[in-house]
Amino acid sequence: MTSKPIQERTPVGIVGAGPAGLMLSHLLARSGIGSVAIDNRTREVIENTNRAGILEQDSVRLLTDTGVDGRVLTHGSEHEGIELRFNGAGHRIHFKDLVGASVWLYPQTDVFIDLADARERDGGDVRFGVSDTRVRDVTGKPVMAFTESDGTPHEVSCDYLVGADGSHSICRGEVPEALRTHFFKEYPFAWFGIMVEAPMSAPELIYTRHERGFALISQRTETLQRMYFQCDPSTDPAQWSDDRIWDELQTRVAGGGFSLEEGPITEKVVLPFRSFVAEPMRHGNLFLAGDAAHTVPPTGAKGLNLALQDVKVLHEVLDGAVNLGKPELLEEYSTRALRRVWMAQQFSYRMTTMLHTLPGQTPFDARRQLGQLESIVSSPYGSAHLAECYTGWPTAP
Ligand code: DHB
Repeated sequence: MTSKPIQERTPVGIVGAGPAGLMLSHLLARSGIGSVAIDNRTREVIENTNRAGILEQDSVRLLTDTGVDGRVLTHGSEHEGIELRFNGAGHRIHFKDLVGASVWLYPQTDVFIDLADARERDGGDVRFGVSDTRVRDVTGKPVMAFTESDGTPHEVSCDYLVGADGSHSICRGEVPEALRTHFFKEYPFAWFGIMVEAPMSAPELIYTRHERGFALISQRTETLQRMYFQCDPSTDPAQWSDDRIWDELQTRVAGGGFSLEEGPITEKVVLPFRSFVAEPMRHGNLFLAGDAAHTVPPTGAKGLNLALQDVKVLHEVLDGAVNLGKPELLEEYSTRALRRVWMAQQFSYRMTTMLHTLPGQTPFDARRQLGQLESIVSSPYGSAHLAECYTGWPTAP
């Protein structure tokens, strides 16, 4: 027999306790606004999923200035540039010199751990491992219903509901079809990602274009490295031996005296690849944030940064509505967030199409890609534009 749901109330219900949901809950608490955040995954599952690693400088600032934790500064590493490799030669794009900005290599998993710890430290209401999540009445008094990990059903009624529930968002489905537009771009490739026990091959990220396809050399620690290479979306990672992976990677990054360090491969995954935007990001008292509203291909390293930017803006408008009595500010959320979403879509698309090979690509396409890369590395203006996009734009007013 199912028991009657336990009735609760909170100003802001947050579906999804990944970085976006937790950061919002943290920012709201600092403004004296209560929230309940739920997630159907356990904390352990989220903590053990490897995700991407680059934080824009404003994302770092959001973590450090709001007292989440300074671990990003002590355990992350500042990167003042990246290398673009093509035709067997590397070209450094020096962000600091070009636009006075840098990025930080600090994996999303660590951002999540810092945020979850900060919410625990500050007495935040975060419930992991819930099931049977449903939401309703998003244009009136929204309700977030779910079963807690101990089996008790709960119904939390709230003034505002936030869908920070990732690319398979259930909240997104509450926006009526007639009122929303979904924008998609599919790509005929995916990324093969590996984690490797080896020393670093380079101090900064290397983005490579090769006739056999894209490759990215990233890092985690002195002894653990992250690498990706373009593959067919139907690739089964279990079918790839370590030797075959190293052959492919070594071929793609070879040249100019560069030496890629090999080691035991501890993870093999194939990552999906697409561009997606759901507009608008608000419907009534429902607000979408992060992957629930948009997905970018990973080439521009923008996914987590966009999610943090969304909740920064969302916190500002919710704070205005609740604490300053200005509910009209809520109307600005979608427009403000989407400006940056589309800038990031454009950058991610450009990085993707410039560095990946397309099945059936013509010699003209290949030469044009090389021309595009050359126009970036040979010009301070071309390089500065890439540097500006990669390190991130200021928050939209
Ligand atoms: C990493 C992932 C990315 O998608 C990217 O663009 C840069 C780095 C990473 O996992 O380290």
